[in-house]
Amino acid sequence: MSTSEIESVLKEDRTFEPPAEFAGQANVDADRLEALYAEAKADPEGFWARLAKEELVWEKPFEKTLSWEPPFARWFEGGELNMSVQCLDRHLTTSRKNKAAIIWEGEPGDKRTLTYQQLHAEVCRFANGLKRLGIGKGDRVAIYMPMVPELAIALLGCARIGAVHSVIFGGFSAAAIRDRVEDAEAKLVITADGGYRRGKVLPLKEQVDAALAEGCPTVEDVVVYKRCGNEVSWFENRDRWWHDVVNDESTHHEAEAFGAEHPLFILYTSGTTGTPKGVVHATAGYALWTKLTTRWIFDLKEEDTYWCTADIGWITGHSYIVYGPLQNGATSLMYEGAPNWPQPDRFWDIIERHAVNIFYTAPTAIRAFMKWGEQWVDRHDLSSLRLLGTVGEPINPEAWMWYHRKIGGERCPIVDTWWQTETGGILISPMPGVTPTKPGSGTRPLPGIDVAVVDKDGNDVGDNEGGFLVIKKPWPSMLRTVYKNEARFKAGYFGRFEGIYFAGDGARKDEDGYFWIMGRIDDVINVSGHRLGTMEIESALVSHPQVTEAAVVPRPDDIKGQAIVAFVTLEGGEPSDTLAHQLRTELSEHVVQEIGALARPAEIRFTDGLPKTRSGKIMRRLLADIAAGRQSGDTSTLEDASVLDKLRKDNE
Ligand code: PRX
Repeated sequence: MSTSEIESVLKEDRTFEPPAEFAGQANVDADRLEALYAEAKADPEGFWARLAKEELVWEKPFEKTLSWEPPFARWFEGGELNMSVQCLDRHLTTSRKNKAAIIWEGEPGDKRTLTYQQLHAEVCRFANGLKRLGIGKGDRVAIYMPMVPELAIALLGCARIGAVHSVIFGGFSAAAIRDRVEDAEAKLVITADGGYRRGKVLPLKEQVDAALAEGCPTVEDVVVYKRCGNEVSWFENRDRWWHDVVNDESTHHEAEAFGAEHPLFILYTSGTTGTPKGVVHATAGYALWTKLTTRWIFDLKEEDTYWCTADIGWITGHSYIVYGPLQNGATSLMYEGAPNWPQPDRFWDIIERHAVNIFYTAPTAIRAFMKWGEQWVDRHDLSSLRLLGTVGEPINPEAWMWYHRKIGGERCPIVDTWWQTETGGILISPMPGVTPTKPGSGTRPLPGIDVAVVDKDGNDVGDNEGGFLVIKKPWPSMLRTVYKNEARFKAGYFGRFEGIYFAGDGARKDEDGYFWIMGRIDDVINVSGHRLGTMEIESALVSHPQVTEAAVVPRPDDIKGQAIVAFVTLEGGEPSDTLAHQLRTELSEHVVQEIGALARPAEIRFTDGLPKTRSGKIMRRLLADIAAGRQSGDTSTLEDASVLDKLRKDNE
């Protein structure tokens, strides 16, 4: 954020009431919301038990709502269910049978629609194919695919047979795939020959081949979906085409029920230290909360076309393209490619052509559209829209107002939803028919979710004072552990305050009880809503033979939210100008090779040494001030930055 934007966050006092017309038809009205809060407060376990019984299809009912032995939670124990049944089978005996489940558009313009019946049939065929490959309950399956319907089918096929999927975002490099596949000890990798992005073919299988060439001994098979027809290398004993795997399989598959706590998936995300961590989510709790939040917050109606623009490689896509919408029997739109291909109006064009009603995207995308110009929006009729959402990073009020005015025509409520990979689903958000919104605030925690802002000793801070965002009570869709690393789970999330979840964000709560998220207080950088650890980028840089030391910090960026700045020391000291230029390119490429294009530094600065504490810790806060052009220790100009700086210091 620029200085003026931060100041405007601090001064932000505009309030927008839900439009009367919207409020009148909302799934959750004021009375219902109050009743939900009251019920959750009076008897939290009773509240969750009632919802779990009403919302999920249980093969075997659960016996106990919650076992909470901090930091370990077990929800709905004794119960058995199948996530793919929640998403598909349950709709087949209703009027939704022939309703569109997924409306898909490829970047080149190809289109497909799968009804619930058709999606069910495809998932069954794939589940049968997986079984034939020897995949069963508890086996880990890594998925590295473009945004095609088969990606959703792969998730649901795994869920159907109790295999644990681990989706790897298509923008990650071979080295990043290898780390994740090895940590999960995946038996199978599902990929595609390629995927389209800005008119080009991304060679996905090539990346998988490279990842597997130097490791991943647990992988027995690779299933390859033919998307682009680009040439691929083929390893006879290992590779098989998706179409060969499913061709002779039956469209019937009797789904087995699994325990409520059976792991549904692992999703790797960046943390404060070390390698990415495998966040583990369990079946029933995740199913319940993604189902409820999708219906409450996006106000889903039977006839809606709902579009979340995220990639299924991230948690947003898991929860709000696949599992949440499908459990509700919604029509979920899926788009493969870039927002500005072939032109910067692709999103608006999609909204107009498909008459999209609910649109959920990220602040970074909104800021990019603002930059590309209103003429691209003006070409399209967006009157089908009735609700807008944002996620992934704080939204600056200017972007919020533009979204409200230009995209929402001042008639659509905006839900600014705060959550994380670890939380499984949205925890802070307006209820669109009830909550007055303030640009830049996610407003209030949802019923049953106990969020607070505390100081370094764990005491609640006063109104408008900055502090750490924590969650005081367990909730059903919380992560259960870090895969194969209980110690990291404990230390990272519950190590600071006994039995209380530490989110890693700085926040303040205003006099109306509205939460304002200020950003990460740990070494996580949020680039275009993508979460990256400074440590990962630093170790990528240091693995280059000429680099001695590296420190990576964020710099505010008008479009991406944050950009990556790397301070690097070299063998033999600071380079000459020509050499520096050459090395910058080389190091950038090296980071892309090691992690992926999303981690490419915006700036690389060579230096003779890095500032360190007496104990030898790199003082990243100081470097961040330098990268941002801020005066260190100057608290007068940027209140937000100084509060965050203080929190970061407290966090060290
Ligand atoms: O810093 C917060 C920011 O994104 C982080 C979580 O990142 P990730 O696990 O990748 O999940 C992103 C999608 C759920 C949070 O710790 N964040 C997410 N949503 C918001 C946000 N910051 C401010 N406002 C939001 N609405």
